[in-house]
This record gives sequence, C-alpha cells and structure tokens, in this order.
Amino acid sequence: MALLIGDTAPDFEADTTEGRIRFHDYIDGHWAVLFSHPKNYTPVCTTELGYTAKLKPEFDKRGVKVMGLSVDKIEDHAGWAKDIEDTQGAALNFPLIADHDRAVATKYEMIHPNADDSLTVRSVFVIGPDKKIKLKIEYPASTGRNFDEVLRVIDSLQLTAKHKVATPVNWKNGEDVIIVPAVSDEDAKGQFPDGWNAVRPYLRIVKQPGA
Ligand code: BEZ
Repeated sequence: MALLIGDTAPDFEADTTEGRIRFHDYIDGHWAVLFSHPKNYTPVCTTELGYTAKLKPEFDKRGVKVMGLSVDKIEDHAGWAKDIEDTQGAALNFPLIADHDRAVATKYEMIHPNADDSLTVRSVFVIGPDKKIKLKIEYPASTGRNFDEVLRVIDSLQLTAKHKVATPVNWKNGEDVIIVPAVSDEDAKGQFPDGWNAVRPYLRIVKQPGA
C-alpha cells in the first residue's frame, strides 16, 4: 500500500554515517526530512548533499532533523563524504543511511521498478513531530531537487500547523496568507482581530500571523 500524506512514517533501524540509528528515536518530537539518493559517487547526489549540508543552520532554525539515504555500504560512505566536502565546500553534518539491503528504501517506496529496479528515485519526506508524513515529493534520478523549496514548504507546514491559515501560490515566509474555508467569518474575527481582505467570501487574505 502506498505511503500517503497523513500516514505514520515507518520506523526503522539502520547503519548511518553517525552510527546505528532508530529513526523514531532520532526524530524525538522534532520535524524531520528523510531524502534518498540513487547511489554513492554520482554527480547530482554529490551536489545535493553538499547543498543540504550548507543549509543545516536553516534546518536547525526550524527545529528540523535531516537524514539522507543511499543504497551503498557504510564503508563506501566515508570516501564519498570526503569527496562531498572537497568538491562542494561543505562536510556532511547529518546522518546518511547505508541502505545496502534496500530495507528502508523498500519501506518508503523509494525504488520505482519501472524507473530502475535497484536504485532509488529522489524522494523527500517531511515528517512532523507527531511522526506523520506531512509532505512527499519524488524526482527522477536525473533531476536534482530544489532544497530551498523544501525549506519553503517546511515554513508553510509549520505555520499551518499552528494557525488556521493556508499559503497561496508561490508563497514565501512573511507574505500574506489565506484564512482556511473551515473558519467562519464570525470565528475569524476572534482569530484575526486586525481584519482581512475578502476578495471573495471564500478567498480571505490576511497578514501572516506572527510575521
Ligand atoms: C546522479 O546522482 O548524478 C545520477 C544518479 C543516477 C542517474 C543519473 C544521475
């Protein structure tokens, strides 16, 4: 059965570049990002891991724990980690799973047999502190992901988890948001005392709470 948004993120125990880790213990009430890489020593993955390492302060600021996965052995990760540091100017600063038996990739449906029967696609899962899947994105192996977009979505997920708002097209942190349809105008008066702009009765624009 497909893993869907709202499902509990499967737990697993795996060898990583930071030792043996049980995923649910690692999350430990934080937000988390789990993302897969088709294979070690591949060029696109090398750039993605270097960039994600550079973004670590941004993930930390949002209370997000990051974990990567590649379907190779732990002894192969050390040499690749050195290459990532040398070529991308940033050392790995989060655990990278050595999923050589594809146990985690299988649980998370990261292998799409009609694309490749042994390598993963580029999956990204954002998982909430309640261990539920909040977002899943899948890219083909040949297309590097946009990790600035992952951060943007996390900003939206964290905001909408706290306030009864949704974020419009291309929204960025700090911009106006939308009052969710489930909130009546009567209830909205209490929640958004500074008012809103009702472009349509169902399209109510409001300043981002807390911005
Ligand atoms: C890469 O990471 O560069 C890559 C991996 C598999 C297929 C194509 C590119």
